[in-house]
Amino acid sequence: MAIFLWREVGWRTIMYNQFMENNLLKVKEGITTIIKESPIASDVEHAERTLKWLLVLKPNADDALQVAAYGHDIDRGVTKITNKDLADMKDYDKDRKEHSERSARFLAELLVKNGLSSAFIQKVKALVEKHEVGGDEESDILRDADSIAYFDYNIPLYLQRNGEEKGRYKINYMYDRASEGAKIIIKTLKFDDENIQKIVNEELNKK
Ligand SMILES: [Fe+2]
Repeated sequence: MAIFLWREVGWRTIMYNQFMENNLLKVKEGITTIIKESPIASDVEHAERTLKWLLVLKPNADDALQVAAYGHDIDRGVTKITNKDLADMKDYDKDRKEHSERSARFLAELLVKNGLSSAFIQKVKALVEKHEVGGDEESDILRDADSIAYFDYNIPLYLQRNGEEKGRYKINYMYDRASEGAKIIIKTLKFDDENIQKIVNEELNKK
């Protein structure tokens, strides 16, 4: 009886894991399809890098945290709203809060369509809502992965799109919110373009 029960539970676990794996693959594809519609072409690579850095910071990150990392900026693929739409950076915190809430909502809708459990969806939603500011261990790691990915990949493209003034603001925003450990990683990242390296050095040396 005990062996039968064990087999029963084992079989169910395998079926459940396969179900999750298939669904999560579909979720990742679904996120990529939406992000490809973003007016910011670099958003797909940024999603990959955020997931990559998340797994560097937390190799055992669970599926919900990984989905949150990959889909945290999904809103731009739906609404096409970007920083470029901000006249200046006065309302930046409000803008970031709205961006986080929109992304959390769109990602949750995608997860509902793909049949994920409501506990899983709630966890992803809460993480994405906090991805700009953190507030607990896992959302802090997501925020850090996002900041490191920005320094690792986005800065040249951000400066090109938004100009130097907004670029310098964003460099400060992404650095200041990061944890001390993430700041150490950010400071090791180098830029091929001398002018960009100079801008980053000038901002980080003020700290
Ligand atoms: Fe991001």
